[in-house]
Amino acid sequence: MAGLTVHGAPFYVLLFLLWLAESQEGADAVGGGLYFPGFKNAAANLSLAGIAKIEPTNGLLELTNRTSRLLGQAFYSSPLRLKLSPEGSALSFSTCFVFSIVPEYAKLGGHGLAFALSPSPNPAALPSQYLGLLNSSDIGNFSNHLFAVEFDTVQDFEFGDINDNHIGIDINSLASNASAAGAYYADDGSGKVDLNLKSGKPIFAWIDYDSGSTVVNVTISPDSTKPPKPILSYRVDLSPILKEYMYVGFSASTGLLASSHYVLGWSFSIGGGGSKAIELSSLPSLSGPQKDHRHALAIGLSVSSVLVLILAIGTVFYIVRKMRNADPIEDWELHMVPHRFSYQELKRATNGFKGKELLGTGGFGQVYRGTLVDTRSEVAVKRISHESKQGIREFVSEISTIGRLRHRNIVQLLGWCRRRDDLLLVYEFMPNGSLDRFLFDSDQKKKTLTLSWPQRLHIIKGVASGLLYLHEGYEQVVIHRDVKASNVLLDGEMNGRLGDFGMARLYDHGSNPSTTRVVGTLGYLAPELSRTGKADALSDVYAFGAFLLEVVCGRRPIEPKATAEELVLMDWVWERYREGKVLDVVDSKMGGAFDENEVLMVLKLGLLCSNSKPDQRPSMRLVMRYLNGEADVPESARAQEALESERDRIKFEDFIESFASSSFEKKCSSNPSFVLPLSSDSTPEVPYGYADHTR
Ligand SMILES: *[C@@H]1O[C@H](CO)[C@@H](O)[C@H](O)[C@H]1NC(C)=O
Ligand SMILES: *[C@@H]1O[C@H](CO)[C@@H](O)[C@H](O)[C@H]1NC(C)=O
Ligand SMILES: *[C@@H]1O[C@H](CO)[C@@H](O)[C@H](O)[C@H]1NC(C)=O
Ligand SMILES: *[C@@H]1O[C@H](CO)[C@@H](O)[C@H](O)[C@H]1NC(C)=O
Ligand SMILES: *[C@@H]1O[C@H](CO)[C@@H](O)[C@H](O)[C@H]1NC(C)=O
Ligand SMILES: *[C@@H]1O[C@H](CO)[C@@H](O)[C@H](O)[C@H]1NC(C)=O
Repeated sequence: MAGLTVHGAPFYVLLFLLWLAESQEGADAVGGGLYFPGFKNAAANLSLAGIAKIEPTNGLLELTNRTSRLLGQAFYSSPLRLKLSPEGSALSFSTCFVFSIVPEYAKLGGHGLAFALSPSPNPAALPSQYLGLLNSSDIGNFSNHLFAVEFDTVQDFEFGDINDNHIGIDINSLASNASAAGAYYADDGSGKVDLNLKSGKPIFAWIDYDSGSTVVNVTISPDSTKPPKPILSYRVDLSPILKEYMYVGFSASTGLLASSHYVLGWSFSIGGGGSKAIELSSLPSLSGPQKDHRHALAIGLSVSSVLVLILAIGTVFYIVRKMRNADPIEDWELHMVPHRFSYQELKRATNGFKGKELLGTGGFGQVYRGTLVDTRSEVAVKRISHESKQGIREFVSEISTIGRLRHRNIVQLLGWCRRRDDLLLVYEFMPNGSLDRFLFDSDQKKKTLTLSWPQRLHIIKGVASGLLYLHEGYEQVVIHRDVKASNVLLDGEMNGRLGDFGMARLYDHGSNPSTTRVVGTLGYLAPELSRTGKADALSDVYAFGAFLLEVVCGRRPIEPKATAEELVLMDWVWERYREGKVLDVVDSKMGGAFDENEVLMVLKLGLLCSNSKPDQRPSMRLVMRYLNGEADVPESARAQEALESERDRIKFEDFIESFASSSFEKKCSSNPSFVLPLSSDSTPEVPYGYADHTR
């Protein structure tokens, strides 16, 4: 608290002017220097956006608080001249600042903070992994003219982050050009010392750019002594990246999890002179309010023990009441990453789970549309029916898996809620609903749009990229186990996003997936699953193959209404392919408007992926290469004979018959999910037992 309140602001204004004059005597007398030892009285100097604010009492710049999915930006209100002319070369600059990241849960960061040079004082940006700097449509675009140094506390696989405690140099993108784990070089030459960016303690950072050597150095330290060597040194000429005038400042964001991001003090200068040093003693204190609180409590206690007694009785009453209403929080809930919503919040968001808001009924329960009262953002709330025995298990699986996944082709789980037997999952709202509606419903009363071929291909590529991420991009292998058109959702821009992770399973890279009950959907289930019960990446590839055929043909993999020949889509496509008439299978709703080569490529790929022999199927990485035209899809080596022997035809068709005639028909056609109980490695008597999860 010492700094500003003791010395008073005018002192610093004077200091600043003196120092400004001094730096202008230097080699580059352009622009100027900024010096903020705390931000008290600096409201006029900064352009604040999002939830950024200056604590009026102590001059702490708070970029975000601990509320999920918000951003805060604070840029110096006038642009600084960083080049002598629009085509000139970028000038050297230096900055020093002190920041602190205080996470909601000690070990889990909620996104991060960045120092940025931006052409705008409040970029149109998104929170979470975008750090309030960019949005999903301008990532990587050269016209961003953005230079940033990120202090990131979440590992985003989308942007190739190295870990959840790193520093990165970002140019026009959040995929860092160079990054390093949080650490500094000790003064005594003893080497690198790890530094936890989200420790809640003040961290000093220096960023220096030298126009002569075109090198950016980033250095951090737990105290005000600048370490002898930078932790990150990256050679880049900023001349083409920076504009003549740039705004300098900070941006921070929170994600599913949240941290408070603070800047305690900041200096910035142009020219080679280095930035003004900041002393910790001059900075606003972080622990101020907390101390006051404890102090107040201490006084309270000493004032009167009677008060304490009353308080205690009150507390007991409160706890008893609370326990009656509250759900006990179980162990697993404590380890869950996404936000836990209160039941009241979700009830209000969905108008008390009114039928009007019902979006659909899935295998595990109902999905409602809702609008969060606080942020006015639209969400989809999945309510898992409590009679479901499956319920809790699926719920835990879903939260622990998808809550930590981040990819643009995956439906983001925002949080969850549990109230007695009601289990609720909150997702990003996908305005265009599920893909199967577009593919299969267009001849029904509600005339939905028919997807064009380019749209279909775009969705296919998106789903492939999401699946590749699940298989290879995450710290564990995630097997989706239920890839199908009805689990692909479409966002506002018609991007395909994989959803419904109710059955997803994780295992470590390189380890063997264990045998579990076979779950999935008939028509997408890889044949080996019924034998081995081991769902692995290649069984997802099989389902993806069925999905490809579905999208091209606009038909379900098993169509009970079709003729015997066309009953199983895969066999039908294969038959036509062998006859050399494969284009006959293409969805007639596209009216023949498609690129034949692309359609042929996707159909061949669909057949390749749905090969009955797992070792003949490509990995998702290879699938991506085929889809991007980087390799030609080989002629499918699938042998129909082999397929025939894989399947127990009679049992299979028996099943189809009962399937088609049963009262489940309606339900099945929207969500035919099958559970096959499997006792270790024995071959089951009846291959496909239908189990209705909602019963
Ligand atoms: C901040 O704004 C005040 C009032 O406009 C001005 O006197 C002061 O010089 C500014 N400080 C900086 C560092 O720009
Ligand atoms: C964070 O800031 C927002 C906007 O000012 C406010 O609505 C919210 O209550 C704050 N959250 C916390 C935890 O202080
Ligand atoms: C994304 O950022 C760009 C550049 O700042 C802006 O023009 C565009 O409107 C933004 N898009 C969205 C969806 O916010
Ligand atoms: C980059 O942004 C500019 C202007 O916002 C836009 O016209 C252009 O299409 C974008 N380029 C790419 C590759 O997205
Ligand atoms: C690194 O920076 C350059 C600009 O100099 C940019 O074009 C490039 O895409 C960046 N590379 C990566 C891997 O982010
Ligand atoms: C960056 O770091 C290197 C290595 O320590 C040093 O030689 C160089 O002078 C530094 N450059 C700047 C601009 O600080």
